[in-house]
Amino acid sequence: MINIFQPEIPGSSLDMLAKVFDSNWLGRGKLVAEFELRLSQFLNAEKQEITTMSCCSDAIFAILPIIKKRSSARKVLVPSVSFPAVGSAVIDAGLELVLVDVEADTGNISLDAVKQNFDDDVLAVFITHYGGNPVDISGLRGIVGSKVFILEDSACALGSVLDDGTSVGLQGDFACWSFDAMKLLVAGEGGGARIPDRDIRNEFKESLYLGLPASEKSGLDKVDGSSEWWSYELNSFGRRSVFTDVNAASIDEIAVFAPAVVLISSVAKPVAVAAAVVPATLPIKTTVADAPAKTISAFEVKVTVVAVSLVA
Ligand SMILES: Cc1ncc(COP(=O)(O)O)c(C=O)c1O
Repeated sequence: MINIFQPEIPGSSLDMLAKVFDSNWLGRGKLVAEFELRLSQFLNAEKQEITTMSCCSDAIFAILPIIKKRSSARKVLVPSVSFPAVGSAVIDAGLELVLVDVEADTGNISLDAVKQNFDDDVLAVFITHYGGNPVDISGLRGIVGSKVFILEDSACALGSVLDDGTSVGLQGDFACWSFDAMKLLVAGEGGGARIPDRDIRNEFKESLYLGLPASEKSGLDKVDGSSEWWSYELNSFGRRSVFTDVNAASIDEIAVFAPAVVLISSVAKPVAVAAAVVPATLPIKTTVADAPAKTISAFEVKVTVVAVSLVA
């Protein structure tokens, strides 16, 4: 068997894991807060816009019922090549799934197909930055206007940047990343989301933590001697989806990863990749071609390097 994907975990993650175990607190704690801060700095996002959860799929499922409440439109446009959680989440939220063609050369949603399928009943477009290759979000916004939600599945796009250096995931109304065992930042399992709108963000956080108000502390954090730490007012219903300090022991991967992205964008720019890969969902189809030498993701470079070494 040819090993295509190999997680690269720095030794410091193991050291950090030992510290987490020594701390006696393996749940969501200070290390998660630091992870969220470091992630926001890496993305150049506002600190409060970033939150974490058990996995990216949870974020995909959580966002749709929240935006559904804010509009009477019911259609969600989804690229025909997408992670299964997206289509499932649309149906689960009682919304109408509209599958839209992708571009043959990038695997990204076709903006022409968006135009053809667009009408007043479109609530959102849930794009995937396929293999980390950025969708033209400005072009998409130009087509759908300001009232339609643009949701960015950036699961494979951590480290992808636009020509001006903007991180992928900062242009839409929502973005999510995955830190599962097949991604660039490996936390075992885990997900992160960026939500710029404060009200949507708070509802989102509540729905992923039992309906507990986003400003509320839980458990030990609440014990200050005076408060009734056992008593909670719940704002709504919700599940429980938690990124823990054990997962956040991967925090140093952000530091290792950051200079690598700079290196990749300077070294790899002239070598554009025409087709990228979503891990474990499609066969490798990586070709180095004369596609426009604009943006390339760290993920693509990793795949390219593997593919090149396979044919060499
Ligand atoms: C494009 C894409 N979206 C979403 C996900 C879901 O991520 P998670 O495994 O963290 O739920 C994945 C995972 O492979 C993915 O590749």
